[in-house]
Amino acid sequence: MAISKATRKSTENAEIFKRRRQKVMAGLKEAALLVAAHPEHVRNDDVHYPYRQDSNMYYLTGFEEPESFLLLRPGKTPETVMFVRQKNVERETWDGFRFGPEGTKKEFLIDEVYPIEQFEAKAVELLKGYEDLYYRLYKNPEADHRVQTVLLNLKRAHGRSGYGLLTIKDADTFLGEFRLRKNEDDLRNQRMACEISAKAHIEAMKFTRPGVTERQVQAVLSHAFYANGSGREGYNFIVASGNNATTLHYNFNDQVCENGELLLIDAGAEMNFYSGDITRTFPVNGRFTPIQKKVYEGVLKIQKEIIDYIKPGIYFKDLHAMGESRLTDLMIELSLVRGRKEDIMKANEHRKYYPHGIGHWLGMDVHDAGLYMIKGEPRPIEAGMMFTIEPGLYIPANDMTAPEELRGIGIRIEDNILVTERGSENLTALVPKEVDEIEKLMASTR
Ligand code: GLY
Ligand code: MN
Ligand code: MN
Repeated sequence: MAISKATRKSTENAEIFKRRRQKVMAGLKEAALLVAAHPEHVRNDDVHYPYRQDSNMYYLTGFEEPESFLLLRPGKTPETVMFVRQKNVERETWDGFRFGPEGTKKEFLIDEVYPIEQFEAKAVELLKGYEDLYYRLYKNPEADHRVQTVLLNLKRAHGRSGYGLLTIKDADTFLGEFRLRKNEDDLRNQRMACEISAKAHIEAMKFTRPGVTERQVQAVLSHAFYANGSGREGYNFIVASGNNATTLHYNFNDQVCENGELLLIDAGAEMNFYSGDITRTFPVNGRFTPIQKKVYEGVLKIQKEIIDYIKPGIYFKDLHAMGESRLTDLMIELSLVRGRKEDIMKANEHRKYYPHGIGHWLGMDVHDAGLYMIKGEPRPIEAGMMFTIEPGLYIPANDMTAPEELRGIGIRIEDNILVTERGSENLTALVPKEVDEIEKLMASTR
């Protein structure tokens, strides 16, 4: 029998995750919380997609193996419990190192860790007496099935007591509120993710010239991500030249960047599961045409105005409303839409050229967890929250109602904003976005 040589260390200090668990447990009150690992997905035949742990599982453990559960039982003994795959020399020889129950307990500072095979039996014991369980259904069908078995066995274990099933509350909504407010542990990674993403965008700008393919630009971004310490991209690369930029989440990235076109890059690196999310739009040949410059600077002015407005106490929906209003003004100025502004907005005509929102929470998921409204009411922005500001204007090449010179122009400018006590900090300000800065940077490489 082969001996598995693989070893592995957790990439972050286990104390970070312990602090997070303690904070979350303090909010659980009388309930327990169960988090399942993300499922593995087959790509083709026996090849899997690269595995990425569920964000909540990572947030609370730092543990990156599939087929595992975390159970939190505040105030009880054991208080923190995990179920993980057992060590298996043969599987580890093929697929890599496993911590196993003992290794997990020690490395991840968990009170008790059992083999995953014991989940159903042990979970019934450990959940006895609870009325509420936080768990997110429908993310991992196999885990859901196992949880259902536990719930049924728990009910049976109550005998003829009249008790029904344990109430399931949504764990992702609950945990989202913790993830939404970033502390120094979170921000260390968030800042690195933004910095690595920013450096990659600069490299891509320097590299781009007529004749390169979108894929080659993607390769430059990807190289800069990994070379600077990122583990993976936070979402699929969007490298969209010319008219492709009018597709919001264009992912083919297989066309040639032509002279005279703009290139829109929306790409973000992950650092310890925190993602950047930057978009820049710039000319393939390094110089904006007068009309490209006019549209670009129109969008840029709006982006900067909105960022300047950010401070604790404002509402996210107001930022969105500002974006819609200012972009409609720009559309009127460019003769993309005609008539009175109120009528245009009431009829949603402006949505034709700006069909998305002004931004979204940013963190471990690019479209991060956390409520935007609480019981139907908008929530005030607080220091420590992170979000993107990304106004855009997209005019498809086949839009015969648009002035001809504007057709095929797609522009988005996106930065990552941390709300501070006094206002905000732009964590992606490193990437040039002023016309003269972009042109200067690009000229320096040709
Ligand atoms: N990268 C996706 C987005 O900006 O929302
Ligand atoms: Mn975004
Ligand atoms: Mn983006």
